[in-house]
Amino acid sequence: MSNIPPLKEAIKNAEAKGVALGHFNISDSVGFWGVVNGARALSIPVIIGVSEGERDFIGVKQVVAMVKSLREEINYPIYLNADHTYSFERVKEAIDAGFDSVIFDGAKLSFEENRALAKKCVEYARSVGREVLVEAELGYIGTSSKVLDAIPEGVSLENLTTPEDAKRFVKETGVDLFAPSVGNIHGMFRNIPEPRLNIDRIREIRKSTGIPLVLHGGSGTSDEDFVSAIKAGIAVVHINTEIRVAYRNALEKFLKENPDEIVPYKFAKSSVDAISSVVEKRLRLFNMF
Ligand code: G3H
Ligand code: ZN
Repeated sequence: MSNIPPLKEAIKNAEAKGVALGHFNISDSVGFWGVVNGARALSIPVIIGVSEGERDFIGVKQVVAMVKSLREEINYPIYLNADHTYSFERVKEAIDAGFDSVIFDGAKLSFEENRALAKKCVEYARSVGREVLVEAELGYIGTSSKVLDAIPEGVSLENLTTPEDAKRFVKETGVDLFAPSVGNIHGMFRNIPEPRLNIDRIREIRKSTGIPLVLHGGSGTSDEDFVSAIKAGIAVVHINTEIRVAYRNALEKFLKENPDEIVPYKFAKSSVDAISSVVEKRLRLFNMF
């Protein structure tokens, strides 16, 4: 019999301990094993995330099968999130496929459109007869996990999510998790310093909404800001760009050093290990080790 707590409980446990769960994006089995190995090195729970593009590549049902089969085989708290999902239809697809949680991302929509669609996703999640968490976003922080040279168009570091809007949004949608704009940006800057997080705003939003908060755009954030943000009420932290950079750099280095290697499980192993190091390093911090 499995004694793995459901994701909602794992998040609650993290909050009670004053730590955060790490959420890492993958596109394939290289990312999958990198994340799993990194988390297992510390014996702590982990969330695997797949955005619409990432899950189209690995396979929507196939990634569910990978996570569930490993979770059952080794009795390990590994969870699967349908990251940044832009339509009700794709939220429904992920819920039907067996994801533990879904994110409806209406950050680019008006408050009203975002609210209405997030509510529809919550209603569907509640109707399926198993616990699926629904997260929503309010406040645009960019869309791409890539290396940045400037702040993405449409992102404002002055116009952060307000505690009042957050409270109303959460109350009217019934979402389980809330992702605000608090100085965080998707992607990682190449040459300019990462913007600082607004820790007071995180604390105010956690208080006004009364539900766990998720910090997106974690790549490049300083250790100091992560620690303060978790203390202020962040329960889940998302990292993607750092994983992508580690994957690509390790592969390039390996192939440069071994130009004749053609065996995928040999050259991809360097990327698995590089991803695992990033995951382990970030999880140590999020868990205050
Ligand atoms: O949902 C994914 C993330 O928010 C990742 O953001 O690429 O800046 O780490 P990042
Ligand atoms: Zn994100």
